[in-house]
Amino acid sequence: MERASLALIGGGNMGGAILRAVVSQGIVPAERLLLVEPEAEKAAALSEATGCAVQSKMDGRVSEYELLLLATKPQGAPLVLAELRSHLIPEQTVVSVMAGISLTTLRNGLGHERLVRTMPNTPAQLGEGMTAVYADPAVPEASRKQVQAVFGACGTCLEVDHEDAIDAATAVSGSGPAYVFYLAEQMMVAAQDLGFSESAAQTLVQKTLRGAILLWEQKGVSAATLRRQVTSPGGTTEAAVTHFESQAVGQHLQEGLQKAYQRAKELAQ
Ligand SMILES: NC(=O)c1ccc[n+]([C@@H]2O[C@H](COP(=O)([O-])OP(=O)(O)OC[C@H]3O[C@@H](n4cnc5c(N)ncnc54)[C@H](OP(=O)(O)O)[C@@H]3O)[C@@H](O)[C@H]2O)c1
Repeated sequence: MERASLALIGGGNMGGAILRAVVSQGIVPAERLLLVEPEAEKAAALSEATGCAVQSKMDGRVSEYELLLLATKPQGAPLVLAELRSHLIPEQTVVSVMAGISLTTLRNGLGHERLVRTMPNTPAQLGEGMTAVYADPAVPEASRKQVQAVFGACGTCLEVDHEDAIDAATAVSGSGPAYVFYLAEQMMVAAQDLGFSESAAQTLVQKTLRGAILLWEQKGVSAATLRRQVTSPGGTTEAAVTHFESQAVGQHLQEGLQKAYQRAKELAQ
């Protein structure tokens, strides 16, 4: 695959993580990268870290890049789309990470066909992110491969075959790290109630969550199987899980993800 040239609009948390990942993994060489970022300090830090060119505003230079990645806040989308519109050429592919901004909004705002909508998550900062990608059928195969390479550098990339799956992925993996932190918060409180210091509780909880996920990945069996393996009849784990079940904790968690999905759909209206 030919290495892409990429202009990144917005060098904040997510944009900065993507920029660092594509450079460190050699997906886009620094001389084929442009960052458009209004905040001078942020732009300078990213330019120093990656060697990319920077500018504070969009201008005709963005037409020179094959991929244009929009990583500004969704609230600012109308302005950014209006700024970009006059500089786009039909051969470019525009990729959005903006939560809740639909392909229809992008198409209307940009007057452009080659569009990709994505949903990354925050572990992208460590190269351990999960990104769902939906490419409009107008996007050529070569560009789709370039987009996969960009998000592959940030962790794992899953291409989905309909746009609705981006809203579903928002509920599962986009918001997902927060659910894990929520579980971690509850385990931290319980551990401290049981007498551990905050620091000891943090070690117990962090290492348990990390070890459990690594075990799941490596064993290649379902989470339910692994849970049953540590749940002996009449034992301690069973006491906890029986209580969770009696309180419908699992059902409430599932409903929470459904709420996140409905909200993602509302935002994309
Ligand atoms: N963080 C996540 O977990 C996550 C997950 C999935 C998707 N996303 C999506 O990623 C996008 C960015 O989120 P974020 O957390 O990275 O936000 P952020 O840190 O606020 O980054 C946005 C950046 O865009 C810059 N910007 C604003 N207007 C601009 C313009 N007209 N041209 C160029 N740059 C402009 C901002 O500069 P100023 O600071 O000067 O305004 C800021 O540096 C959002 O749409 C969000 O939905 C984020």
